[in-house]
Amino acid sequence: MKKEAELKIRKAKKEDIAQIEEIYREGVVDEVKTQFPKKTKKNILKDFDKWKKEHKKSYKKDIKSLSERFIVALIEKEIVGFANAKIQSYDKTQGEINRIYLKRNWRGKKISKALLKDLLMWLKSRKVDSVAAGMFIKNKKSRDLHKSFGFKNTAIRMQKKFKK
Ligand SMILES: CC(C)(COP(=O)(O)OP(=O)(O)OC[C@H]1O[C@@H](n2cnc3c(N)ncnc32)[C@H](O)[C@@H]1OP(=O)(O)O)[C@@H](O)C(=O)NCCC(=O)NCCS
Repeated sequence: MKKEAELKIRKAKKEDIAQIEEIYREGVVDEVKTQFPKKTKKNILKDFDKWKKEHKKSYKKDIKSLSERFIVALIEKEIVGFANAKIQSYDKTQGEINRIYLKRNWRGKKISKALLKDLLMWLKSRKVDSVAAGMFIKNKKSRDLHKSFGFKNTAIRMQKKFKK
């Protein structure tokens, strides 16, 4: 019988950025569709691709920053997901989970749990008192994931669209 592939988590490197962006791009489509199912993939990607340059700048900055932890999940050398967290610059007792994204065919295998656990341990080791995370209300998987680590609902974000 084939041995179960081993999951490895390590800090992200500059060389990983292209793969990270690809996973982010795919994940954003699924994430946005949880809340706005009628939005087309084409439109979601059109918006996403406007920020390509900014994403790359932000990955580079986040990977280097001492107040951030940016990690990737690997299965047999393939990057299958990534996640990052930061300590707020205005209050070092507060942490934030920024992103957790898994390649489609690697979801549902508890990899996000391993990533989130790593980020929470890192924040705890940095003497952070509380951690926040934002997500779409209808992103049930992400909400359940965070709930399973003890996150509680504390705020709601509202949005209104202007008629064109
Ligand atoms: C959300 C996401 C990161 C979860 O990753 P995953 O690897 O599929 O999740 P895991 O297998 O580690 O499961 C972790 C927990 O998530 C929740 N979860 C996972 N799949 C779920 C599903 N189909 N329905 C409801 N909850 C689910 C559960 O709480 C699960 O824990 P449990 O299996 O012990 O009950 C992943 O689906 C993803 O990348 N989605 C697209 C991008 C996205 O929405 N990212 C979050 C932005 S805030």
